[in-house]
Amino acid sequence: MNAKYIFAKSIYAKCTPHENKSSYKTLSSSSVLSLQLSLSLSLSLSLHHDSKDLSFPLSSLSSSSHNNHLLLSQLLSSFSKKKPNKWAHNSHGRSGVVFQPFEELRQDLNLVPSVPDQSLARQKFAGDCEAAINEQINVEYNISYIYHAMYAYFDRDNIALRGLAHFFKESSYEERDHAQKFMEYQNKRGGRVKLQSILMPSSEFDHPEKGDALYAMELALSLEKVTNQKLINLRNVAEQSNDIQMVDFVDSNFLAEQVESIKKISEYVAQLRRVGKGHGVWHFDQMLLHEGDGAA
Ligand SMILES: [Fe+2]
Repeated sequence: MNAKYIFAKSIYAKCTPHENKSSYKTLSSSSVLSLQLSLSLSLSLSLHHDSKDLSFPLSSLSSSSHNNHLLLSQLLSSFSKKKPNKWAHNSHGRSGVVFQPFEELRQDLNLVPSVPDQSLARQKFAGDCEAAINEQINVEYNISYIYHAMYAYFDRDNIALRGLAHFFKESSYEERDHAQKFMEYQNKRGGRVKLQSILMPSSEFDHPEKGDALYAMELALSLEKVTNQKLINLRNVAEQSNDIQMVDFVDSNFLAEQVESIKKISEYVAQLRRVGKGHGVWHFDQMLLHEGDGAA
């Protein structure tokens, strides 16, 4: 270790801003002058020892405070190029937190797709989840289609049960709205919506023993239970893929509402079983017509 290293280290320890800012700022002119003299000695020793160490001339040393500070910083800068700044290193080490945002982002930047037909937003969204959502969209559309067929049946002039027609029309819209919610979610997660075929539903809902109203309502109850099971299956796929966000989406938007629908339609089935196929059905229909919401 040469004389320049020992001396400059002692100066650096005194004047490093983060170590003692006030002492750096309040160096008196006499202190600066003594530093200058010491620097001259140090530089002379250094130039004898290694003429390549310092690039600024000794003649540039002056008595002005500004220039002394400048030269001091030049010396420290020159020194720091040859020796690692262990004080600066320690300042990171004290907190134990080394923030390296660009290092952490580098991997994610490489994951951003450059191909135009790929989603930019997709992150931790499994193919199984994407496929299951498309299947659920198809389920919702199929049920919407069946409810729409029921609406068309009860709206006929020779059936004329306007309450049931209104109820099934609203139910059809609601199932379509569910399908749309899943489509929006699919796009939000960076999946691709793929619509599948919808089966043609029956156009006749009369039943020789139960009558049309009870038969249609029992069919609606079965459809709601099937939908509930499909939603549970969808949730399981999300859970198996560790997709917490998708689990929350299914839970908060569908499962609670589905249970409410099953309870409501179960009550309608029970009431229709009580009233039979004749006059009672007309009263039930009037109740649905004036119930307000009418949707499952
Ligand atoms: Fe639904």
